[in-house]
Amino acid sequence: MVKAVFPGSFDPLTLGHLDVVERASAHVDELVVLVTGNPNKPSGLFPVERREELAKEALRTADLRCPVTVDHWGGLLVDYTSANDIGLIVKGLRSSLDYEYEWPMAQLNRRLSGVDTAFYVTDERYAKVSSSLVKEIARFGGDVAEFLPAPIAAAVAEAAGS
Ligand code: PNS
Repeated sequence: MVKAVFPGSFDPLTLGHLDVVERASAHVDELVVLVTGNPNKPSGLFPVERREELAKEALRTADLRCPVTVDHWGGLLVDYTSANDIGLIVKGLRSSLDYEYEWPMAQLNRRLSGVDTAFYVTDERYAKVSSSLVKEIARFGGDVAEFLPAPIAAAVAEAAGS
């Protein structure tokens, strides 16, 4: 039984994230999409609770092959994995830049708790999609619908005032 976690800020969750969730759901028995951040120190476009709500909405119409839940966490990832009996961390890799950012975390998480990280190479359709760029485009009034699940696109457009 493989229980995995896909952690991230998800501010907001993009189609690239959703693609990783769908693909990972075919390889594990249970998956938690974990919105990280401290609910008492809101920063970013959406507070943690809203990111969680939006992720849940997006997952309603996703092609999921195992039970997928959404949760949030403001502490160390390995404390969450240990407390929830999770044996695998799932991440997406768009480029070597992501790799440089991710590999120290993967090594330290493994050293701290023995938990391994599995990387999914981002589908080429989403290789340039990031939550930060999507927010920037929306802030300047650009259309971000092609990068986001439909319910999230509407919420981002409204929050960014576009
Ligand atoms: O979407 P992001 O911001 O790239 O996600 C990074 C995230 C949240 C996965 C990473 O910062 C994380 O694991 N945060 C939890 C705190 C933690 O465990 N940090 C040490 C990692 S070695």
